Amino acid sequence: MYENIGELLTFEEVQDPSTLISYESMHKFMSAKRSIRGFKKKKVLKAVLEKVLDTMKYAPTGANIRTLRCTIISDNDKIKKLSEVVMDAIIASSNPRYSENFIKAKEHGIDTIFYNAPHVMILHSRNPGDAMNSTIALTHGMLCAQTLGLGSCWIWLAHGVLSSNKEIREKLTGIHGNIWGVIIIGYPTQIYYRVPPRPDIKTKGLNELE
Ligand SMILES: Cc1cc2nc3c(=O)[nH]c(=O)nc-3n(C[C@H](O)[C@H](O)[C@H](O)COP(=O)(O)O)c2cc1C
Repeated sequence: MYENIGELLTFEEVQDPSTLISYESMHKFMSAKRSIRGFKKKKVLKAVLEKVLDTMKYAPTGANIRTLRCTIISDNDKIKKLSEVVMDAIIASSNPRYSENFIKAKEHGIDTIFYNAPHVMILHSRNPGDAMNSTIALTHGMLCAQTLGLGSCWIWLAHGVLSSNKEIREKLTGIHGNIWGVIIIGYPTQIYYRVPPRPDIKTKGLNELE
């Protein structure tokens, strides 16, 4: 069914992955994963993005069906054009949450969709069951990217417009099928000095435990 099923990997720690990273390091690493909206102009090398994709392919998928596809847009003019078209679509939808700010941003030439990121990464497929698979894969990819000094941010605003507008999707991204996730990725200029507080996840059943 698949042209390339990938290679079988083996390494010492595979039998007990807990020996690879401590809870403390992992917790710090994950809580420091923030949305990056300011980027250096420098493009990420192909070999670096390949590493990110290589991690994403190990993310689990329902029934182990591997139908996700990835499109990376790195041409600045294409990213700018896509951003403008997405902004126009949001302005035209008169969503009061965004349209007024977006009209102002457009007047000032500010990219409030992709924040002048050097790369836009889109996960898509023709498999209608890939939504959750894509979210998991992109989350793995964004965390892997952080180990390589890269920052990233989910871009639902582009996701929404690309999903609902076939003409924009096909003409500007060449994607046929479902859009499952859009992120921006690149070397950050934005630095966070703190991890913000987050509320506990309200949980039942925990207090029954020792
Ligand atoms: C599903 C999802 C969609 C998002 N879409 C956007 C978006 O369109 N534009 C944007 O600037 N940030 C977007 N974000 C980033 C959130 O605003 C951000 O994750 C949240 O405010 C928490 O901040 P942090 O990621 O820095 O911890 C999105 C995040 C998620 C998880």
